[in-house]
Amino acid sequence: MNSRRDFLRQIYGAALAAGAVPAFVSAAWSQSQSGPRIEIPGEYGLVVRSFRFIDLESPVEYFNSWLTPIPHFFVRNHMHEPSELDAETWRLTIRGEVEKPLTLKLNDLLKLPTHSVVNTLECAGNGRGFFRPQVPGVQWGKGAVGTARFSGPRLRDVLDRAGVKATGKFVMFRGLDEVPGKVPPFIRSIPIAKVLDGDTLIATHMNGAPLPKHHGFPARALMPGWVGAASCKWLTEIKVLDSEFVGTFMNPGYRFPNHPPLPGGSVKPEDTHPLTALNVKSVIAGPIDGAKLKAGPVTVHGAAWAGEADVVKVEISTDGSANWNPAKLGNDHAHYAWRLWSYEWKASVGEHVIMSRATDNQGRTQPATPVWNPSGYLYNAYDQVTVHVA
Ligand code: MTE
Repeated sequence: MNSRRDFLRQIYGAALAAGAVPAFVSAAWSQSQSGPRIEIPGEYGLVVRSFRFIDLESPVEYFNSWLTPIPHFFVRNHMHEPSELDAETWRLTIRGEVEKPLTLKLNDLLKLPTHSVVNTLECAGNGRGFFRPQVPGVQWGKGAVGTARFSGPRLRDVLDRAGVKATGKFVMFRGLDEVPGKVPPFIRSIPIAKVLDGDTLIATHMNGAPLPKHHGFPARALMPGWVGAASCKWLTEIKVLDSEFVGTFMNPGYRFPNHPPLPGGSVKPEDTHPLTALNVKSVIAGPIDGAKLKAGPVTVHGAAWAGEADVVKVEISTDGSANWNPAKLGNDHAHYAWRLWSYEWKASVGEHVIMSRATDNQGRTQPATPVWNPSGYLYNAYDQVTVHVA
């Protein structure tokens, strides 16, 4: 397995070979919605949002298959990836409010019954770059999201072996990330009800292959339908707690205002709650923004998802939201997975704004304007692209 230094050298090497600028000016890149694309080993055509810790975004054109191929899948890291990951020596400890603390090897996990969940994983900050006024943080465009088939033992089967005590109310997860300097570790806790859900996994596989390093090899937590931050990568410790974990990534990180503030306004920490499930949302994968098209039939297509809910409708407007028409939903579907959709449009000469909005079975519809919040979480306004038809 390559060390982190080797990996970064590969990235920098690839970036320089591609004529890209080095890391210290990458902040300027991250201001643009499209951003630079460089080839990184194992990751093809992704947009680099940060080099310091590896943050890679999928271009929307990749949202044309129900399962996102691994090299097209976004990557979000708060820290340095582990330098060394060895399947032989890797151990997972389970402790805290349990009758019998356990240490498992990878083989122990692989022997347990496997369950698969097709899940759309989206970073809570996806779309942050569209909030106005702007908010600090990685300026994600539309592509910090992807869908994969995750497989592995159910987390509850592993916890059953340790025996969760009645006092166990939350579960915290620790990864093997390398924490630089004074940065607090990426640790979050999840309420026990979600942890014990039959679809919550310790995932060891993604799209049928062992988890790749960027996505948490050899095992990650998977909280289907929840913000990506709930699914800890490179798991090394699972601890059952009697109360919520106290730490930066629980508070002030990953919290949403109880009452939406006015854009640019402030929010009191006590007036917030931890992020859990994703919003209802759709993205147009094609035609892409700025496309030059010929008049005539054009297929508008994309993906829509709704966290723990199911998408029931996607509507398209080709006249700047005056009229909405139903899109056709794709055949592939699963509870926590996005639904591909398409709409046949007769394009006439001129400039057109195409919009998409999804509705789910909880009655939620994407709003015209997002709920502004100081950390830029859960952006889900109508998606839109402008196209020129000649
Ligand atoms: N787990 C660890 N250990 N460290 C991290 O930085 N990032 C989280 C989550 N799990 C993270 C982590 C966030 S914010 C997201 S959105 C998802 O991983 C991204 O998963 P991916 O990189 O496999 O796409």
